[in-house]
Amino acid sequence: MAKIAKKQKTTFFCTSCGTESVRWVGKCPACGEWNTYKEELVIEDSGKRAFSAGISSGVATLLNEVQAMKSDRFQTGIDEFDRVLGGGFIPGSIILLAGDPGIGKSTLVLQAAAAMKETVLYVSGEESTEQIKLRYDRLGLSSTTLHFLPETELNTIRGVIEKLSPSLVVIDSIQTVYSESLQNTPGSVTQLRECTASLMALAKKMRVTVIIIGHITKEGTIAGPKILEHIVDTVILFEGESSRFYRILRAQKNRFGSVNEIGVFEMQDIGLRQVLNPSELFLRERKSNTTGSVITCSVEGARPVLLEVQGLVTPSNFGNPQRVANGIDYRRLSILLAVIEKRNNQRLSTANVFLNITGGLRIDETSIDLPVCCAVISSFLECQIDPKMVIAGEVGLGGEVRSISNVEKRINEAGKLGFERIMLPATSLKSIKNNTTGIEVIGVEFLSEAIQKAMK
Ligand code: TYD
Ligand code: MG
Repeated sequence: MAKIAKKQKTTFFCTSCGTESVRWVGKCPACGEWNTYKEELVIEDSGKRAFSAGISSGVATLLNEVQAMKSDRFQTGIDEFDRVLGGGFIPGSIILLAGDPGIGKSTLVLQAAAAMKETVLYVSGEESTEQIKLRYDRLGLSSTTLHFLPETELNTIRGVIEKLSPSLVVIDSIQTVYSESLQNTPGSVTQLRECTASLMALAKKMRVTVIIIGHITKEGTIAGPKILEHIVDTVILFEGESSRFYRILRAQKNRFGSVNEIGVFEMQDIGLRQVLNPSELFLRERKSNTTGSVITCSVEGARPVLLEVQGLVTPSNFGNPQRVANGIDYRRLSILLAVIEKRNNQRLSTANVFLNITGGLRIDETSIDLPVCCAVISSFLECQIDPKMVIAGEVGLGGEVRSISNVEKRINEAGKLGFERIMLPATSLKSIKNNTTGIEVIGVEFLSEAIQKAMK
């Protein structure tokens, strides 16, 4: 903890979520993180700075009479990126692109910036002009409208933006930017908030779109991008394991589009490549003759994606059996295991259960319930699930299979990728109007029935 001279007023901020506290606390009451509180100087007039999107002249207007802005979105030239944004950038919007260090945020934005026709200003406090140019050449990029500025001081950056008047500004990363008028160190909660608010005001005034890159940090030594989530218009996460080749771009908040869209990329030696058919990618390494493997179709935004759910059940020799859930909510898995135990009479309380969604995807949709149950039971019984079948459905506490949405999309995707059968909740079958794929559709009402029909 940095010591700050006694005379100045200080306060403590959580570097993970930005919660303020008058004294140091070990565990943040808001986000539950440990050891994230840091002492910072208080800015006396910070209360006056509002994160406002526009300035009123003190007169209210009738919404009906307001001339709506034409939605003149402009595109990045990378379809997967545009889709996640909701169809391109809205002028004057501010976008937070957050992700672990080294995941490929700078690469993605550089590729997008170079593909655009509009004037772009790329501000980097992390890499020098030579480093960026090396990457630019290695990626084989060429642009006549992309400008680069290696700078970290906010007012200098603002000056350049005002002079150049670009359509898009990239700040890589917000944690390196600081305002000289504040005494706080770069990367502190106060600096992060004030710099973002200042850039936001400029963005709205000049109708320039700003992408702010933020590193997600675990240690709490520099403040994380979570603090900015409520200020910005759009929050996009770039996820994946840096050791694996694919990356997923996901909108977590979007004032101008859907939050369920995902974009899939592959990291190659010549940069990021869009994956237009993610189902093929996620099923590529699949072995069809193992127990505990189930294919499901999840609808992410407007797009169906086929995935493999893997379950592994082993006897537990020690007191407490282990449960590990990768890619689905841990509590959801616990509930499903209880349903299997109670409604299907399979004793899982003395077994370790490991569950994995391949490809590093995280699924929050309820249609994952039935495939999870099938994967677990398949491994428990050492009995294979039909490898030519796709399974999707919600499971209720009574062991009943409940309806899900977007069944036609799921059927079409499964048919397109050569699957022969798809198992869906019986109650969802009514909404199928036309099944042109020729895939056999099997409706089920109960978990036990699903298991019987899915075993080979
Ligand atoms: P980078 O965009 O610098 O990540 P971030 O800005 O999120 O910190 O990407 C860094 C990683 O990407 C680095 O480990 C190397 C890898 N990479 C490639 O595999 N191929 C490439 O063409 C590029 C530019 C990077
Ligand atoms: Mg970077």
